[in-house]
Amino acid sequence: LDKFCLGLEPQTQVRFTSTTSALKAQTEKKTAKAAKESRTFQAIQEERKEEAERSVLISCPPKINEKKFLDYLSKHGTINKHFFYNSYGANAVVEFSSRESIASLKESINIPAVEHEAAVPFKSRLLSLKWPGSQSSNHPMPKFKEQSPPSINEITQLLSERDSMDEQLQCLTETLQLTEENISLRFLVCSLLRDIAGAYFPECIIRPFGSSVNSFGKLGCDVDMILDLDGIYATSQKKGSGLSLEYQVKRGASERAVTQSILSVIGKCVDQFGPGCVGVQSILQARCPLVRFAHQPSGFQCDLTANNRVAMKSSELLFLYGKLDPRVRHLVFSVRCWARAHSITSSIPGAWITNFSLTVMVVFFLQQRNPPILPTLDRLKELAEKLLQEFFEFYGNFPFNKASINIRKGKEQTKPETTALYIQNPFETTLNISKNVNATQLERFVALCRESAWLLQQKEILKQSSDSPWGFAALLLPSVTSGAGVKSRRKRKLEPASSRIKNLLDSLKIKGGETVAKKGSA
Ligand code: CTP
Ligand code: MG
Repeated sequence: LDKFCLGLEPQTQVRFTSTTSALKAQTEKKTAKAAKESRTFQAIQEERKEEAERSVLISCPPKINEKKFLDYLSKHGTINKHFFYNSYGANAVVEFSSRESIASLKESINIPAVEHEAAVPFKSRLLSLKWPGSQSSNHPMPKFKEQSPPSINEITQLLSERDSMDEQLQCLTETLQLTEENISLRFLVCSLLRDIAGAYFPECIIRPFGSSVNSFGKLGCDVDMILDLDGIYATSQKKGSGLSLEYQVKRGASERAVTQSILSVIGKCVDQFGPGCVGVQSILQARCPLVRFAHQPSGFQCDLTANNRVAMKSSELLFLYGKLDPRVRHLVFSVRCWARAHSITSSIPGAWITNFSLTVMVVFFLQQRNPPILPTLDRLKELAEKLLQEFFEFYGNFPFNKASINIRKGKEQTKPETTALYIQNPFETTLNISKNVNATQLERFVALCRESAWLLQQKEILKQSSDSPWGFAALLLPSVTSGAGVKSRRKRKLEPASSRIKNLLDSLKIKGGETVAKKGSA
């Protein structure tokens, strides 16, 4: 308590001493939070998976009476958590405290009789709530949790209201990152899918990986899933008489062929029996075979892969990097947002730089800094703003033509092949994770990095302003330098930049072009 009261006004001290129990509770809460934060990646995933297994997803009528709804479900057991959200209508996620509640609930539910069609009699945890008669709307409406990210315009507006660029970057991360509810929904969709795959492989687990779990996910990002069959290989053979039994199995030509055939069957099953799963595509010839589909009740685009242990490891690695220093996530979120605003990245697959490549580029940049990761306390505040500028300078001048990015060594390496952008996969070291990127896309990225670095050097950009975007928000305005960029973005409806920024950009064309060109050739 002394520690807490130190340095407080006497009046406040009295109030604090009289609320010792409140403080104790607060301290316990903090300890619990610290314990929660120090859990391993695997422990966090395990806990979320287990919560998902005790949850159901219910499509609800629009004017839901929350109290009646919860009372009705509570007949089957204690409810731990619940939330409502919109995706093709109102939906609720309800997490019970015990799995037995799910069994009890399922026993009380019917397969519906459908008119003019027939139902596939598959009992999943995706349910529909029927409410007899018309509902009165005199009761308070439940809060609906947002599952989509704000638009660039909304972000620009939000950022302009902050007090410093440091606060802007923090606000950006907090606004775009996945919410607790959104992560729970991702695990629930994996768990629902597991129930389908479990019909063939009862020991299987479907785990989310990539940005759903690596702490760099943005609201609206896809759900990458792995069908994990490792549980099947676990043996419990006892030594003894020398006799042993093994399963007779069907053989495939290679591990890849077996993965393809498993995914092909599960893809068909998802397509034909999976409630809410639409637009199922089996992309089995890809380097990493996958089944892609949309899960309508959650609104998620899903990619299901199998036999992909390395991807789980790389998700954990990024998660650990994100935990080392809060600025890592701030930098990744701002670079990704900047790249999206300028169409350096896209939601459509193609020759663009991907979010994953960008994240590895940020990690590499942070490794290359001198000192590499943690600076002195005095520089922390200064660096929070400076890092973004230095990131743009670093990649604005990076010798992409001859060097590759290698986060295993934390050093530039000579490019082993002539692709535009070479980022070595840290686990499968012969692979280039950005093999898809073409020279034009890389040039646009470099040109925008230079322009943004230059903009951040202009003190005017950093001055707070109420009538035009400033700080990071100014970096999201349409660019003027990159020729290729301007051409490819002509189709987009551009908002006129404020005259202040327009002037800055015009002067960039004249004098900045020269400096940038010099820097680039250095
Ligand atoms: N991955 C990889 N090599 C690639 C592409 C992807 O190892 N060339 C792995 C990474 O672990 C990545 C995951 O597959 O995190 C999912 O890929 P993707 O969905 O493209 O990236 P995310 O990191 O999930 O980012 P986004 O938010 O854009 O989905
Ligand atoms: Mg993804």
